[in-house]
Amino acid sequence: MAIGTAALGLLALLLGCSGNSAEAQNSSKCVLSGNWTNDLASTVLFGSVSNTGVFSGVYQTAVSSSGETIPPSPLQGIQHQRDNATFGFTVYWNASKSVTVFAGQCFVVEGGKELLKTVWLLRAEAASREDDWGATKVGTNTFYRTK
Ligand SMILES: *[C@@H]1O[C@H](CO)[C@@H](O)[C@H](O)[C@H]1NC(C)=O
Ligand SMILES: *[C@@H]1O[C@H](CO)[C@@H](O)[C@H](O)[C@H]1NC(C)=O
Ligand SMILES: *[C@@H]1O[C@H](CO)[C@@H](O)[C@H](O)[C@H]1NC(C)=O
Ligand SMILES: *[C@@H]1O[C@H](CO)[C@@H](O)[C@H](O)[C@H]1NC(C)=O
Repeated sequence: MAIGTAALGLLALLLGCSGNSAEAQNSSKCVLSGNWTNDLASTVLFGSVSNTGVFSGVYQTAVSSSGETIPPSPLQGIQHQRDNATFGFTVYWNASKSVTVFAGQCFVVEGGKELLKTVWLLRAEAASREDDWGATKVGTNTFYRTK
């Protein structure tokens, strides 16, 4: 009550300014390192990103075509190091002898939240060359940072 609205206004201004400058200086946005989850409730952990943009990680899928639980699966990727960076990574599905390649872009949206818009190709192992035609699936996923 004793604090005037002018003082509150000044405080808000100071907080606002420090928030903005911290955001402007924060180069960690769209560095993919950390935990993410997607619209299917699959989770992915990206490890540290090297100075050449290379990273590895672990993908825990919530869905599988077999209906069986898939163990955490390794991935390797590379990203650009800039705002709204594009990136790609490949997940190695050991049990099904298949791979999924993801290509995507990170976007920093309202409130500084990051999301990853991706398209993927899942390549299953074809039993023969004649079966090659139907061995690839395509889809999209959006990932949200959880940590
Ligand atoms: C940058 O942002 C990340 C994630 O939002 C946060 O963890 C980190 O503390 C911030 N760094 C600075 C210097 O503000
Ligand atoms: C990040 O993901 C890893 C691997 O799934 C998990 O062990 C860890 O607890 C997660 N961290 C957080 C903060 O969710
Ligand atoms: C793949 O699975 C096989 C059979 O379970 C196992 O022996 C092998 O160590 C696994 N390889 C990798 C790279 O996880
Ligand atoms: C990054 O993407 C966000 C969300 O679409 C957009 O508002 C922002 O202008 C973009 N930033 C840059 C530097 O392209």
